[in-house]
Amino acid sequence: MKRVDDFRLHLGNKDYVPIMVGGMGVDISTSELALEVCRLGGIGHISDAMVQDVSDRKFDTSFVKEKTKTYKFNINNMDKAVVQFDLARLAEATLLHVGKTMEAKRGDGLIFVNCMEKLTMNSPRETLRTRLVAALDAGIDGITMSAGLHLGSFALIADHPRFRDAKLGIIVSSVRALQLFLRKISRLDRLPDFVIVEGPLAGGHLGFGLDWAEYDLHTIMDEIQAFLRAENLQIPLIAAGGIFTGSDAVGFLEKGAGGVQVATRFTMTHECGLPDDVKQEYIRATEADIIVNGVSPTGYPMRMLKNTPAIGSGIRPGCESYGYLLDATGNCSYINSYNREVLANPDSKTIVVMDKTCLCTHMRNFNCWTCGHTTYRLKDTTHQLDDGQYQILSAEHVFKDYQFSTDNQVALPPREEVAVA
Ligand SMILES: Cc1cc2nc3c(=O)[nH]c(=O)nc-3n(C[C@H](O)[C@H](O)[C@H](O)COP(=O)(O)O)c2cc1C
Repeated sequence: MKRVDDFRLHLGNKDYVPIMVGGMGVDISTSELALEVCRLGGIGHISDAMVQDVSDRKFDTSFVKEKTKTYKFNINNMDKAVVQFDLARLAEATLLHVGKTMEAKRGDGLIFVNCMEKLTMNSPRETLRTRLVAALDAGIDGITMSAGLHLGSFALIADHPRFRDAKLGIIVSSVRALQLFLRKISRLDRLPDFVIVEGPLAGGHLGFGLDWAEYDLHTIMDEIQAFLRAENLQIPLIAAGGIFTGSDAVGFLEKGAGGVQVATRFTMTHECGLPDDVKQEYIRATEADIIVNGVSPTGYPMRMLKNTPAIGSGIRPGCESYGYLLDATGNCSYINSYNREVLANPDSKTIVVMDKTCLCTHMRNFNCWTCGHTTYRLKDTTHQLDDGQYQILSAEHVFKDYQFSTDNQVALPPREEVAVA
């Protein structure tokens, strides 16, 4: 019986343990998590979502404070078009976040950054170019372009000296999305180094409609493999979404996938950036607690726990401090929903907004509990301790379980004793 360790992901001229841990913004896939995966020979992702805020928390910078000060005059204005990112400061924050992570890199694996292109930041092309260039300048091993795939993203960095040496990949959920992207980049003479095929069970935003349950990752992988074969293209495919055991992963590797991308099982590790109480919420969840809804202003369905505090919250849009989801015209669908409720309830002190959420503020505060569909199985991978809390695992334990387990087994960790005060 095969295990994941019998396979290798071939990228460039090197081989890696074929396990990627996916990007989880905002700082849920921390540098610590990505570094640990890299140390173990796999590929870890950090995320550049809300990088200025992440930098402030980690490196004591004050990017957010500065931006808030600059745009303070606009806080009560419903129109946010004036709020812009200072590109030099954005680059500085990215250089810090990525650069410090790369300085700490050990082991035979790689560190990639997940770049969510739906973070349009009131100037989609320029802010994306700045983020990509700064990540390359900071020495990142590779970039994964995700949610909102900007068909022109490769062209934005085509003149960067590292354009051909850094590993560049994309996330797609259909053969059609891949075909469109390849057509768009054909004149650059540079294919993606890897393509992550994300199915409907993943966490975060989904590349499907609310009919996500009608799709299945194996079928999409088969379609994409058939297309690549017909076109004589050799691009490693990385299967993602709902891969819970080493055997699930082997099921894809045996059919020709180059690797797998996983995330949900790492949300209950010490290295994951979620606060401890939120980790416990994830582990406690039942299948009925996990929903897919349309509250994200990105327009993509998002999977989350149904008791997530972000749902229904009517906080004032935080664009003067954040503003990552402002589109090219300076708008965000949460602003419209919020303004609608304020106008409809002029005397109310508490505003409730059900259809959209202020994703920047809530992701920043870990109040939007996005998760993968298999989250309800996390409790089977650990012990419930005497105080009722679930034991948190090390990323090494989870990584090695994927790497070495067979027969759909999940290895339980040695049980920890609860310290008596
Ligand atoms: C908490 C959480 C946050 C996520 N955030 C992002 C993100 O910011 N960008 C992205 O491309 N994918 C995101 N994802 C998707 C993962 O990177 C990954 O592709 C997917 O969840 C893998 O499936 P699994 O969680 O079933 O293992 C997120 C997933 C989780 C669980």
